[in-house]
Amino acid sequence: MAAPDLTEDEHLGLYQRVTEHGAEWWRVSVADRPENYRLEHGVDDEHGAGAVDIDLVVDAENLRSKLKKWRREGFAIDTAGADGAAAAAERIAFMPALQRATASAAAARQQTRGAQAQTRQTVRVGHVDVICGADNPVATPLVPRINPAYLFSERFNDIVEDIVENRRVMLIGHTGAGKTSLIEQVAARSRHGVLRSNMNGQTTVGDFVGFWTVKGGETLWVDGVLPTAMREGLWLIVDEIDFAEPSILAALTAVLEPQGRLVLKEKGNEIVAPHPAFRLFATANAVGAMSQFRHLYQGANLMNEAFLDRWRVYLLDYLTPAEEADVLMRTLAPHMTRPLAVTLAAIAADCRAAFAREDLSSAFSTRRLLDWAELMLRTGDPERAAGPAIYAKVSPEDAALIRGIIRHHIAPAT
Ligand SMILES: Nc1ncnc2c1ncn2[C@@H]1O[C@H](COP(=O)(O)OP(=O)(O)OP(=O)(O)O)[C@@H](O)[C@H]1O
Ligand SMILES: [Mg+2]
Repeated sequence: MAAPDLTEDEHLGLYQRVTEHGAEWWRVSVADRPENYRLEHGVDDEHGAGAVDIDLVVDAENLRSKLKKWRREGFAIDTAGADGAAAAAERIAFMPALQRATASAAAARQQTRGAQAQTRQTVRVGHVDVICGADNPVATPLVPRINPAYLFSERFNDIVEDIVENRRVMLIGHTGAGKTSLIEQVAARSRHGVLRSNMNGQTTVGDFVGFWTVKGGETLWVDGVLPTAMREGLWLIVDEIDFAEPSILAALTAVLEPQGRLVLKEKGNEIVAPHPAFRLFATANAVGAMSQFRHLYQGANLMNEAFLDRWRVYLLDYLTPAEEADVLMRTLAPHMTRPLAVTLAAIAADCRAAFAREDLSSAFSTRRLLDWAELMLRTGDPERAAGPAIYAKVSPEDAALIRGIIRHHIAPAT
């Protein structure tokens, strides 16, 4: 009897499955003998494409039963053919190769940091050693105060690492999520002076870059915050960068590369080179992954991708309820007890969940929670404390909903 022809779903080609040893494959091609098929078998592993270890010729009926068996065993056809085998090998080899590369990069980093630590004083922030700033009359008064209640979450380690590596870091997230305080608290502990410039207000390009003025009959140049921070080795936080005017963004773009220099066009093209301790940060509420909330932050501009690509952009979410309960207890020690803190953190979490569902139109910040808790400890009355700390800041509808959430967690005093 003549061998039956292959049907629509019985293709020639490469059948593959992923095993713990690599990509195992069967290649089906037309054999030299008429109406027969050649089957080759092999395994590609992290070292690349494997050799053929089985090579046989079968008729169509035999092939058909093999195809059934392979399907049961999890083989699927790779329509990419021979190129597919190489691609599958690369796919499997990627993670082991990356792990080796990461380990060697970590060792190299460790070595450089070790050498730096011998000459410069460092302080450990989270898991990362940060080089301390030098004491000097300009920077020292600008070092933020340490907040002893500040909690460095595990999630912040990557950001601190970026600061050490002199990356431009942009933190995005809702108001009061902790963007500014994270940078300030790293600076406070490593004794670096910080300048802040808010773009949602009257900051002009003159304030930012500098301007000429007349004093005692003499014309003087006054550096703006950017050249000041660059010359003095300060950390500059550009708050609400999504409100900045284009001329300010243009000045910033020049210094987004780690060694990027600023050209003061107004001052005869004077070039300002960055001090090694200079760092640049930005915060925003409605950029990139936060764009979906732009309606809450009216007037925010869209930032173009080329500009965003010059930053490491981190989405900072609110602290978890457990972390926030810790912060409440540390900030309001010794009066804030754990049971009180856990309940208050749960209320904040519920309000944020309602906000995420768009039942509430106002976000519930850590700042608001701390303020409410502090007032509550003074008045002994959660409802009265919620007046100035929460209700008066939101719409009547939001206030009613938040009141309901609070009552759900706190029974009235008897
Ligand atoms: N990890 C933390 N540990 C302790 N307190 C925190 C933490 N994160 C935030 N807070 C508290 O929340 C307050 C608000 O944080 P911060 O000012 O950094 O928010 P933000 O994201 O910069 O807000 P905005 O967008 O309004 O500028 C801080 O002053 C601090 O009291
Ligand atoms: Mg801020």
